[in-house]
Amino acid sequence: MSIDLPKIRQEFPLLRTRTYLNSCSYGALSRHVEAAFEKYLDLRRTHGSSWEAWIGEVKRLRANLGRLLECPAGDVSLSASLSDSVNALASSFDPGQGRDTIVTTDFDFPTTSQIWLAQRRRGARILRARTDESGVAIPLAHFEALIDDRTLLVSLPYVCYRNGVKLDLEPIIRLAHERGASVFVDAYQIVGTAPLSAPDLGADFIAGGCLKYLLGTAGIGFMYIRNSTQNARVPVTTGWFAQADIDAMDIHRNEPSSTARRFESGTPNVSAAYACAAGIELLLDVGLAAVREQAAHLTGLIVEGVRSRGWQLVTPAAPDRHGSLIAIAATDAPALVRALAADDIVVSDRDNNLRVSPHFYNDDGDIARLFDALEKNGRLLAT
Ligand SMILES: Cc1ncc(COP(=O)(O)O)c(C=O)c1O
Repeated sequence: MSIDLPKIRQEFPLLRTRTYLNSCSYGALSRHVEAAFEKYLDLRRTHGSSWEAWIGEVKRLRANLGRLLECPAGDVSLSASLSDSVNALASSFDPGQGRDTIVTTDFDFPTTSQIWLAQRRRGARILRARTDESGVAIPLAHFEALIDDRTLLVSLPYVCYRNGVKLDLEPIIRLAHERGASVFVDAYQIVGTAPLSAPDLGADFIAGGCLKYLLGTAGIGFMYIRNSTQNARVPVTTGWFAQADIDAMDIHRNEPSSTARRFESGTPNVSAAYACAAGIELLLDVGLAAVREQAAHLTGLIVEGVRSRGWQLVTPAAPDRHGSLIAIAATDAPALVRALAADDIVVSDRDNNLRVSPHFYNDDGDIARLFDALEKNGRLLAT
């Protein structure tokens, strides 16, 4: 199954003027998503308030996320950001009662670590699984040493936003469950780059957002709750959109939904819902298996191009050990990002490494242009 690249690239006007390799930061805007924004604006222009249509669109977004995560839509909660979902999740734990420890990692995006550290005030103990000397692997033994009968939750990023490292989650999840702990996965840097069956992964909670590889926009986060109607967790954060009956409008009762919706709170971000539902739709049309194939092809070209020129890969080269993000060691990464920008190549940097993150809409020509520009700026790359 391959992608009709010339056709798909027509969908993304940005690709005509820029070599866009920064989808780990923000996805490119498609015509389809632009039209969805327009649809929302048109309703505002012509009807003022269109709650029925807007709530319908939020439902469509939830349904699309269910298709994307291969799970029932009822197991998906929506929020304004991944952080919002994680804060709701944190509020559903009571670290003062019984298990008190949250195990997190060196590969965390800052927000998850910060949210877990904030739980110290509520009596939580926070432990961190450290990398080995390579800096790009966290051995299973490090989790084995930390997870025990005090562990409430193990919080794992699937792909690290700094270096693209993909964790082998299956043995860690099995270990955590054997020792009675729940597992949360931050899937933001993988969702939309490959098929992801939330039920098969086995984690209890999986969160992400829609503005990167899902092609949507800022303002929507989501969280999958495994078997949500049987899961005992009920957050303290709540609101009318979290109620079993949103229309109840009863100030004397708080009856959170039995589905994942109980992790929600107030009025959803309707304009973002239009854009995000459309972005996921586009991705589902292309097919996640085809997206994964193209990501593997492009990251393979990047790995090969770096190695053959004697530069240093930070990301492990093996295809099963990285996401759609390759980090390359630089001597001055911010200067390199600026130099590439001058050639209309959009990439980013972290930890003084260049981050190159292709998506299915990139082609071999984009990678060739990247390497032409890197060769021009070879002094800014580590050898
Ligand atoms: C792995 C990962 N987690 C979380 C976030 C941030 O999530 P939010 O801003 O939606 O809370 C990002 C954003 O870059 C990310 O890459």
